[in-house]
Amino acid sequence: MIWLVVFGGLIACAGNPASATCQLKLTPPEVVVQYGDPFSVNCSSLSSNTKEMGWESPLGAIQLTSGVSFLTLKIKSTSEWEIPAYCYSNLDNGDQCVESLPVIVYKKPKDVVMFHPSPKGPMVEGKDYPINCDIVDVAPARNLSLCLHNENKILECQSFAQPHLLPGIISSVFDLTAHRNLDGTQIWCEAEQNFSPQGPKLPWIKSKPLEVVVLYPPTFNSPTNETLETAGRKIILDCNATGNPVPRYSWHLPEPLQQMNKNEKQLILTRPVQFPGTYSCTASNSQGTTTKYFTVIEAPSGHPGTTAGIVMAVFFVVIFSLGWDRTTFGAIVGGFVALGVVLIIAGVLFVTPDGTFSLNKGSYLRGRPTSSGPV
Ligand SMILES: *[C@@H]1O[C@H](CO)[C@@H](O)[C@H](O)[C@H]1NC(C)=O
Ligand SMILES: *[C@@H]1O[C@H](CO)[C@@H](O)[C@H](O)[C@H]1NC(C)=O
Ligand SMILES: *[C@@H]1O[C@H](CO)[C@@H](O)[C@H](O)[C@H]1NC(C)=O
Ligand SMILES: *[C@@H]1O[C@H](CO)[C@@H](O)[C@H](O)[C@H]1NC(C)=O
Repeated sequence: MIWLVVFGGLIACAGNPASATCQLKLTPPEVVVQYGDPFSVNCSSLSSNTKEMGWESPLGAIQLTSGVSFLTLKIKSTSEWEIPAYCYSNLDNGDQCVESLPVIVYKKPKDVVMFHPSPKGPMVEGKDYPINCDIVDVAPARNLSLCLHNENKILECQSFAQPHLLPGIISSVFDLTAHRNLDGTQIWCEAEQNFSPQGPKLPWIKSKPLEVVVLYPPTFNSPTNETLETAGRKIILDCNATGNPVPRYSWHLPEPLQQMNKNEKQLILTRPVQFPGTYSCTASNSQGTTTKYFTVIEAPSGHPGTTAGIVMAVFFVVIFSLGWDRTTFGAIVGGFVALGVVLIIAGVLFVTPDGTFSLNKGSYLRGRPTSSGPV
């Protein structure tokens, strides 16, 4: 510490350290050095009237040296964590110049340790879990960053403002919110010492990874309720859901299919068993239950009335496109009417011998409300 007192006196005596004529240049202007390693710094005086130059540092000094324009400080081994170093010069006019050298002494971390989040065991989606990471035996605290990683993604990073220069443990806590994306993946902590732009960029140091298990409720891959038509050869009711634990499935089927016992993620209805109605499927696991509804409807087919209408329309279009005149048309219609009359008369004649009421005796007609009462 004596050198500090001496140097303090030196500065106190200095006339005008920051004057324009007072220029000392340090190369490099800043030192980033690993504890135990050597370093050297060149101090050159840019003032022409330099009388003498010197260096002060706790690791070694260079006495005032006359007749030089530069002086190189060489340190064999960096054996201190805090190194206040100064280059100084005295000018002919009595001025003294001082330039301080920033020195960062670092130590690569011995280890990065991640602690299992508590409580142990699988995480539950949506809950927060504290993840503790320690950087062991590292210096200095600033210039350190620590990140929580998941596969190739960085989840969260922290840097440290503590002015610690001596090696020690840097502890950090990340708050991880469990999400299904994390299920089955690995997480780990990674520490980096970054001294750029001046110093070296040291490789990241990783902790051991931790396999994450996240429990989450079933979610359908196609979540909306569906309406399906009985048209095709088969109908697929897709209930596929993802969840952890793996979901169990149960189906609620229309009356005719009640006996079917389905515990699968898909229900396939083939031609003879495509019953219209509401089907529902429930996927459940320890984290929740969710239900999806399917409505199976009859595909719209040709209605008898519609078919007749279409036949009539085609009939008339054909007649008019053939360019027949009114009399031809009249004749044709007249012909049909005549044919109809003939058929009716023939029917009446045919039926009469058996008795008109005999038809009502058929049991299949009993229910008809329009049937005439007994005579
Ligand atoms: C120190 O700087 C001077 C002047 O800039 C230069 O001539 C000399 O080569 C340098 N010495 C070292 C060791 O870098
Ligand atoms: C990291 O180190 C560099 C020295 O190269 C320094 O200039 C910078 O301020 C440091 N960064 C932090 C965040 O402390
Ligand atoms: C599906 O239908 C059910 C019952 O009609 C309804 O409660 C639910 O909100 C519907 N879900 C979706 C996603 O439309
Ligand atoms: C269900 O979905 C998963 C994930 O999307 C997929 O891997 C699987 O093949 C699907 N199963 C069926 C039967 O569609």
